[in-house]
Amino acid sequence: MDYKTIKYTVDGYIGRLIINRPEALNALNSEVLSELNRVLCEIKENKDLRVLIVTGEGRSFVAGADIKEMSTLSPLEGKAFGKKGLQVFRKLESLEIPTIAAVNGFALGGGCELAMSCDFRIASDKALFGQPETGLGILPGFGGTQRLQRLVGQGYAKYLIYTSQNIKADKALEIGLVQEVVPADELEERVTKLAGKVAANAPVAVRLAKEAINVGGQVDIDSAIKIEENLFGLSFATEDQKDGMNAFLNKEKAEFKNK
Ligand code: CAA
Repeated sequence: MDYKTIKYTVDGYIGRLIINRPEALNALNSEVLSELNRVLCEIKENKDLRVLIVTGEGRSFVAGADIKEMSTLSPLEGKAFGKKGLQVFRKLESLEIPTIAAVNGFALGGGCELAMSCDFRIASDKALFGQPETGLGILPGFGGTQRLQRLVGQGYAKYLIYTSQNIKADKALEIGLVQEVVPADELEERVTKLAGKVAANAPVAVRLAKEAINVGGQVDIDSAIKIEENLFGLSFATEDQKDGMNAFLNKEKAEFKNK
């Protein structure tokens, strides 16, 4: 499919999604959100894909929702714009396959929210994170008030959102917002390597683990361990379980079939 504001490529088992509006530091306008919605349908349809990398073109990951577009919105239009972003990010978060944000630069407002909708985040040492919305007279509207507190706890979420101050990658690592920080010129290689590690593991098991974490994380512990119990049992129905365990017992490396 043709896209104007994003790029999407597939290399073997790994998909790469690039927000491509560098002239506006990849700010998310309605067009980007619509194209993201379309590409996520395309990604969902591709059953061979095992992992998705999300990143930004140029010096920015995403510098937020588009302030120019938002500046003239009425309350109802503002609500609809927020709803559109929330739905697209929830779709990304709910993809069956793992997603990795390769945060190459500014991850502000909607950009931080986009990164938080991925399963984990690897940052360049040049990346900058923040939820600067209250400085613009609004609040985070693409999931920031909810996902940030779930990732870093309410204290840091309130600290960042009320003060609207940005933090560098090392601080983001310290508070658990990102999982690794690497030199900017090594980001692509490192993230591709991690994506390869994910893709080399049993794909059905990885997807079931994602489901267990995402669904279990939202319910009480008794319901959550029941979810794990059922999904753990289900993994024994796969050929990959047989291949993985036989390979171990034969001192070989398993080649998983995604079955
Ligand atoms: N929306 C629209 N355009 C943006 C943008 C945004 N969020 N961020 C940057 N741009 C545009 C700039 O207007 C500029 O365009 P022109 O060349 O046409 O003037 C271009 O990108 C380059 O930006 P700067 O010249 O400002 O670059 P800089 O290096 O001096 O500064 C920056 C970089 C610190 C990221 C600065 O651009 C900035 O502060 N951007 C806004 C960040 C922000 O507040 N994001 C939150 C948006 S609100 C939100 O996201 C709501 C939500 O939760 C849904």
